[in-house]
Amino acid sequence: MFSFPYDAVVFDLDGTLTCSDQGIIQSMRYALEQVNATIPAGVDLRAVIGPPLMQSLMGILGLEEAVARRAIGYYTEYFNRTGMYLYTVYPHIRSILTMLREGGVFVALATSKPVRPAMAILNHFGLTHYFHRIITEEDNEKVVNKPELIRRALPESYERAVMVGDRYFDVEGARANGIDSVGAGYGFGSEEELRTAGATHVVADTESLRAYLCPGAPVPRGFFLTVEGLDGSGKTTQVDRLEQSLRDYGFSVLRTREPGGCEISEEIRHTILTTDHMEMCPACEALLYAAARAQHVHEVIRPAVERGMLVLCDRFVDSSIAYQGGGRALGTDVVRTLNAPAVDGMMPDATLYLAIDHQLALERRHSATSLDRIEVESGAFHGRVQSAYEKLINDDKKRFLVVNGEQDVDTVAADVLDAVLSRLEPELEGC
Ligand code: TYD
Repeated sequence: MFSFPYDAVVFDLDGTLTCSDQGIIQSMRYALEQVNATIPAGVDLRAVIGPPLMQSLMGILGLEEAVARRAIGYYTEYFNRTGMYLYTVYPHIRSILTMLREGGVFVALATSKPVRPAMAILNHFGLTHYFHRIITEEDNEKVVNKPELIRRALPESYERAVMVGDRYFDVEGARANGIDSVGAGYGFGSEEELRTAGATHVVADTESLRAYLCPGAPVPRGFFLTVEGLDGSGKTTQVDRLEQSLRDYGFSVLRTREPGGCEISEEIRHTILTTDHMEMCPACEALLYAAARAQHVHEVIRPAVERGMLVLCDRFVDSSIAYQGGGRALGTDVVRTLNAPAVDGMMPDATLYLAIDHQLALERRHSATSLDRIEVESGAFHGRVQSAYEKLINDDKKRFLVVNGEQDVDTVAADVLDAVLSRLEPELEGC
């Protein structure tokens, strides 16, 4: 049995939960340009990450009050339009928040950001629902000090509380409230700054933070997401884009593919796809795909999902059902049966399908430089594959997320991300 060392945890936002340097620095550069201000010699703009804006503009950058006020207007405009979307969530943060919540720990946020941008970021990344209490500045001017923000964030009663933050004022704020502090050494303050300020403990990365806050607690099961579509549906491009976006949202992504994904399965992939083996019979082909899958599930997919990873897999058993069951006409039931020991209960939690008509997919394939043994098959073959996919989707509407793959690349990428996030973080704004 394990127990959590703290029954109340208060987090800072920038540099602790979210990596905000690009978003803040670019917004600040824009604001300074608009008011014709220059950065004083020897000042690193990263120093403005953390303190309230007014304090940074007047204290660190030396602006007059009236100019600082105008700069805040430009900063806010740019931040809302662009800066906020340059944020990313640090890896493991989602699992730490989930573990604390599920362990009955009180989870709060205390940030020097004004309420509107703070809530916009939390909502954009789907983090809001993890917190019992969120304390922000009310606006840019009525500055509340950090000790007071932390005091308001703490629950009415607790046994042992901790503040997690990346700057000296987070540590000092914790001390003023008589609680422990963990310095997030991966954020914007140095480990030395945090130690000198008297942090109870300093962590170098979010994995160590998880170990410190949730020692011995089981990591929540991850998620198994597969992507399917006809050859020429734009799948590879979309999986690349999706992988990057999910990482920016703080998901720990393991990207893999079928056939392949580990050494044995990559060797089988070569045997299946080379045009040297045009004589391969449908049953041999189906069994080789299943064999490659068995090893991939055993060696890669199941262990990663159990470690809490989001496994993003380009094709899985649905490809066999559509291509070998439908395209090769082996029958979907036969293919499902011979895949049972390979899948071994590890069905995807969700499957994204890029819908595109096989005729359009064929036209797109014509512009490809080299085609494998499956891609060179006839239009009729790919027509049967499409019908088999459509039947699969119809029979399992809950698992499939269908996106129109015939639109332009950026629109497909946006639709794909929306569809996937709606399944991963149902609490996300706009989903
Ligand atoms: P894929 O890696 O998507 O091709 P590429 O990266 O070259 O675009 O898939 C390889 C081919 O294997 C593809 O034509 C679909 C086929 N396939 C099956 O026929 N059955 C299966 O079970 C799998 C996983 C793939």
